[in-house]
This record gives sequence, structure tokens and C-alpha cells, in this order.
Amino acid sequence: MILCVCNGLKDRDVLAAARDARTLCPTRAYAELGARPQCGQCLDHAAMLIEADATELAIAAE
Ligand code: FES
Repeated sequence: MILCVCNGLKDRDVLAAARDARTLCPTRAYAELGARPQCGQCLDHAAMLIEADATELAIAAE
């Protein structure tokens, strides 16, 4: 699913980038994909998805 319309970024690609960069920051995850926020409307949702994904990974690693 498209997460960031301005950059055409898919949620799964943003999550993979956040994992690779070991960051909870959407802006850093976008940078990993060669993008940067434009309108900024996706950032809260992106941050929530990244945080949920990191929590799931942490729980799975226990
Ligand atoms: S929808 Fe992501 S910056 Fe606009």
C-alpha cells in the first residue's frame, strides 16, 4: 500500500528502510529510499507504523 503519496513510497519499503537504518524516524527511513518529506501529511502515520513494526520485532526476538 502507498504510504507516502508525494514520493510514491510503499509501506513495506519504508518499514524495510527503517529496519536497515535502525531508526524510528520516518524522515531517515525516507532518506534511505532517496526521498524526503514534502507535504508531511504521511509522517505521523509512518512513525506509528515504524514504531509498531519495531515493537513486533522486539517481541519476536524475545
Ligand atoms: S504524503 Fe508523504 S510527504 Fe506528502
